[in-house]
Amino acid sequence: MTVSGRPIPATGAAEMLADLPSLTDPALYERGDPYAVWAVLRRECPVSWHQSEEQSGYWAVTTYEPGLQVLTDWRRFTSTKGVIVRPSMDTPYPGAGRMLGMSDPPLHDRLRRPIAALFSSRAIAGLADRTRRTVRELLAAAVAAGECDFVSDVAAQIPLAVAGDLLAIEDDEVDRLARAIASAADNTNDIDGAVAQKAHFDILRHYSRVMARRRQNPGGDVVSALIGAQADGVEITDAEIVVSCDNILGAASETTRHSASVGLLTMLENPDQWQALRDGRVPLRNATEEILRWTAPVTHMLRVAKEDTVLDGVPIRAGDPLAVWIASMNRDESVFERADEFLLHRPPSRYMTAFGGGVHYCLGAGLARLIISTLLEELATLDAEIIVTGTPRRIASPVVGGLATLPVEFRRR
Ligand code: HEM
Repeated sequence: MTVSGRPIPATGAAEMLADLPSLTDPALYERGDPYAVWAVLRRECPVSWHQSEEQSGYWAVTTYEPGLQVLTDWRRFTSTKGVIVRPSMDTPYPGAGRMLGMSDPPLHDRLRRPIAALFSSRAIAGLADRTRRTVRELLAAAVAAGECDFVSDVAAQIPLAVAGDLLAIEDDEVDRLARAIASAADNTNDIDGAVAQKAHFDILRHYSRVMARRRQNPGGDVVSALIGAQADGVEITDAEIVVSCDNILGAASETTRHSASVGLLTMLENPDQWQALRDGRVPLRNATEEILRWTAPVTHMLRVAKEDTVLDGVPIRAGDPLAVWIASMNRDESVFERADEFLLHRPPSRYMTAFGGGVHYCLGAGLARLIISTLLEELATLDAEIIVTGTPRRIASPVVGGLATLPVEFRRR
């Protein structure tokens, strides 16, 4: 692997960097320590070129300032070529340039504006009771059973149970679609492969059908909002609507669950923090933000340079892909004090970048915060001890960071 970038890294650093594990190797996320690799890159070479026989070249951006520049400046760095690193960056990403998360303005504005109101603070506040009910029911069932896999039995269930209406999913469609999303997410490393393609095909077919139904009978969901805008003359195609809905569904389902389960595991591994939360000594808002900073489940986002430019002193050529390692930005020692410590009482910081920045700033940030803070409150007041009973398994993915399993037991107090 070649790792280079800053012309003159500290003495001996070039060799050290060349020996680092590859950031795109799924095994690093399942069994290794990506945070240790990012720490070296932040210190030695915050904008560095990575290339290997298996991986086309890309820039890895690991510190806050240049990372934010790339995420926020769509005029210099486009989302239209796809937003994740793939082994071959030359093959076009399916649907890229046509969906919300992989478009630039003006198409991006046309797709985002019609649905923005559905995710406003007011709209999300309207989901508070449903969120509380969902979390209580799932936790009560888990405590009654005495044990569960916290990932699949609790954390993964919440987003779709809370936001199903918003995402145009009927209750009896949740399981089927959840399976398709999971299959798509498990195969992000091979997005062009048959398994990922079939999963996306199932989701796209669902949204094509919903689109036909909502044309007759509109509701308060993303599909209705987008076809309503189309009917009002906004230039968006049916294909852009269905691929955007697939995109929104994945974004909703495959993120919050990981903050929730990695958050719980980290609290259980830090008993003093966990106890402080249970004693009511930590403001819920601070704890929620720290869990988001710490877990940052969207590990990286990719952009492609539209023109020759310079980033953090490093010349970048038009067409170069840049992976912004969001999880690393959230540990940048130059913007967070004691960045490597999990401190639930840490005051909320404007540098917390788990939700990205700029025009693509996470549309579901309010919903994610509502889910995590409600879950935290309910966990903290649970009338049972939570004990991890097996080895949690991490997901083998450089795109989404989280747990595949978290076996826990509940002992009534
Ligand atoms: C902890 C939970 C979550 C995290 C960490 C997260 C993170 C992110 C990040 C980093 C982006 C920016 C992508 C980019 O710059 O290319 C993003 C975009 C997005 N997120 Fe989230 N997300 C979360 C939950 C949600 C939820 C619950 C929804 C619900 C619908 C959602 C919907 C979206 C959508 C639609 C976009 C694309 C916005 C656009 O391109 O304009 N996210 N998210």
